[in-house]
Amino acid sequence: MFRRTGTERTGRTDRTDRRVQDHGTGAAEPALRLVKVSKTYGSDDSAVTALDEVTLSLASGTFTAVMGPSGSGKSTLLQCAAGLDRPDSGIVMVDGAEMTGGTEAELTKFRRNRIGFVFQQYNLLDTLTVAQNTVLPLKLARRRVHRGRVRETLTAVGLGDRLGHRPDQLSGGQRQRVAIARALVTEPSVIFADEPTGALDTRSARDVLRLLQDAVRVHGRTVVMVTHDPVAASYADSVLFLADGRLVGEMRRPTVDAVAERLAHVGDDVMAGA
Ligand SMILES: Nc1ncnc2c1ncn2[C@@H]1O[C@H](COP(=O)(O)OP(=O)(O)O)[C@@H](O)[C@H]1O
Ligand SMILES: [Mg+2]
Repeated sequence: MFRRTGTERTGRTDRTDRRVQDHGTGAAEPALRLVKVSKTYGSDDSAVTALDEVTLSLASGTFTAVMGPSGSGKSTLLQCAAGLDRPDSGIVMVDGAEMTGGTEAELTKFRRNRIGFVFQQYNLLDTLTVAQNTVLPLKLARRRVHRGRVRETLTAVGLGDRLGHRPDQLSGGQRQRVAIARALVTEPSVIFADEPTGALDTRSARDVLRLLQDAVRVHGRTVVMVTHDPVAASYADSVLFLADGRLVGEMRRPTVDAVAERLAHVGDDVMAGA
């Protein structure tokens, strides 16, 4: 069930070749597939259904934003889809391999090799340098560290001259760019970002969004980003709208105005039915 990735065995070429083939046939497995994923917190009177049979499929090499009111289940969706939490029921598949159902150790291994994360608060280790933070996922996955690759990745996010700095010597925007380098370095199937620009000024936010876009367009990654900001969402190829733990809409080629307009009415019918 838990396939080894091509990258683990042979480095980058295998993965790149496969991606090209996938594009050629048009019959590729979706990078991410959720089938009837449900998650309830608490029990009895205090039970909250955070996700209610969510089914979705995201093609490889796409950038998707997830939006919805506070408490609509966005973070829970991300946690379950990324294997950080387990759904109560339903299936999560990454590149056609089922992630749900294995042991904790298998899930951890799978996650380390296939999934990248970017969090609102960066989650860098203050005692490590920029370069050390970036290679950490490779070390955790017991994969080879190519120094040149690490430098290349940090240069791509504009931090080629900051390898020896520590996070507290960097601005918020720079820290988030380290987090993006850290997410890219394992060449994961899917990168999940939860409000990655939530703590940033407008200009740093734009840099981060462009880097996430590049991760998709240049490096062929698949990115799923939770955001409440229509400007951030407009960088994505499509937006999924959540309300009350359910998918209630999708918008392709989102514009700032269209997203803001839609967001104002998301959950109206859920509220009307309540
Ligand atoms: N650990 C938890 N324990 C209890 N309830 C939770 C927990 N995490 C989330 N919830 C509840 O689940 C619902 C969805 O939460 P969340 O996924 O964080 O929504 P969002 O990210 O859209 O704001 C909310 O009602 C929230 O209060
Ligand atoms: Mg949230």
